[in-house]
Amino acid sequence: MGDDGTVGDLSELSQVLIAAFEVLQSGAQDRRAAFHTPVFASLGLDGRPLSRIIVLREFDPDQRNLRFHTDWRSHKVGQIRHDPRVSFTFYDPAMKLQLRCEGQARLHHQDAISAKAWEASQRMSKVCYGTAPAPGLVIEQADDFAMPDDQESIAAGQEHFCAVVTQVTTLEWLWLGFKGHRRARFIWDDNGNVDGVWLVP
Ligand SMILES: Cc1cc2nc3c(=O)[nH]c(=O)nc-3n(C[C@H](O)[C@H](O)[C@H](O)COP(=O)(O)O)c2cc1C
Repeated sequence: MGDDGTVGDLSELSQVLIAAFEVLQSGAQDRRAAFHTPVFASLGLDGRPLSRIIVLREFDPDQRNLRFHTDWRSHKVGQIRHDPRVSFTFYDPAMKLQLRCEGQARLHHQDAISAKAWEASQRMSKVCYGTAPAPGLVIEQADDFAMPDDQESIAAGQEHFCAVVTQVTTLEWLWLGFKGHRRARFIWDDNGNVDGVWLVP
């Protein structure tokens, strides 16, 4: 190991990265996977950290893109438009594995990517985008809002549908191994070259 902590032989680190990409992919595909519902963090308009659970819809290992869906009217969209730096935290208690992914989020609203994602969405997912008034607004009573109930008004919700796509530029892997914890970090440059290092857990 070099003085700066870099490891000359990346064979083990590259295996860690392959395994990390696999759990992200299966997390997106498997509704029961712990990695299906990570914590997504953005920066509030005043700079404070804000986080919430989202449903991971896709991980594309070639582009390193994480995708989830949200309402264009939601607070997080305003936060991302203000500052696109975001992070995702995943934890699977059975695997004892935490992943933290950082990147810059891109918002797809009323474009080809959001249209494709909308088409692939289930009816029960589409319903949420027709909520009136907008999510996050203060209401007098707990049930002072309406959800669309017919085909036409559910379809109209597409105008609020937004796909959030984040290319991962930093991935940190932490495994709570029985015989000792292991921690590694991977950083990609603008050309897509990755640099992996082991970290003290
Ligand atoms: C299991 C679970 C899954 C969720 N999935 C999503 C999601 O995919 N997209 C989303 O915008 N909000 C999702 N939410 C709601 C968010 O956690 C959050 O409450 C909401 O989006 C408002 O966040 P905001 O005000 O920061 O924009 C989910 C909540 C839970 C508990």
